[in-house]
Amino acid sequence: MPEIAIDLTAETPEDGPAIEKLHERAFGPGRFARTAFRLREGVAACADLSFVARIGSMIVGSVRLTPMHIGQHPALLLGPLTVEPAFRSRGIGMALLQASLAAAARKGHRLVLLVGDEPYYGRIGFKRIPPGRIVLPGPVDPMRFLVRELADGAFDGVEGTARGG
Ligand SMILES: CC(C)(COP(=O)(O)OP(=O)(O)OC[C@H]1O[C@@H](n2cnc3c(N)ncnc32)[C@H](O)[C@@H]1OP(=O)(O)O)[C@@H](O)C(=O)NCCC(=O)NCCS
Repeated sequence: MPEIAIDLTAETPEDGPAIEKLHERAFGPGRFARTAFRLREGVAACADLSFVARIGSMIVGSVRLTPMHIGQHPALLLGPLTVEPAFRSRGIGMALLQASLAAAARKGHRLVLLVGDEPYYGRIGFKRIPPGRIVLPGPVDPMRFLVRELADGAFDGVEGTARGG
């Protein structure tokens, strides 16, 4: 099968409705009750750090980064990451992750947190956060609460209550 050309570009306001449909299909209405959603509620994602994957004019994947704080420490919350089911296992998810993490590092951000599967995100350097170190506004499975440093030692001494913004 020939390779399909995938374009990765920063998200624009016009992409919002198509991304929302991707989220609806991937996560259903339960997404609004997730702890990560609560952290993002009312906080705009960083458009320059959030990427969409396109085949032609069709959006087939999306990743967002949203500002947050842990105590006084600024960080970014990654998610949702979604790829259209028909286009999975072609590296689009990892390419979106690489694009957003590289853009964040270039802009001087130091820490990225997420709630997700360690076997997947561990491939790109995310590690489990020790239980109790960060207080969240709802329950999460500690096995799925992960951090990635964008600068050496960026997570040293970071603890406290997480909030969006
Ligand atoms: C998770 C997701 C974004 C991956 O997108 P993708 O474009 O298929 O990812 P890639 O092509 O980069 O990587 C695919 C590989 O990751 C593996 N993988 C996918 N999801 C995984 C998971 N949750 N845990 C472990 N491995 C996973 C696949 O089996 C595949 O393995 P292979 O390379 O050995 O074949 C996509 O499956 C998806 O949208 N899932 C539903 C939404 C979701 O769960 N998002 C993550 C939480 S925010």
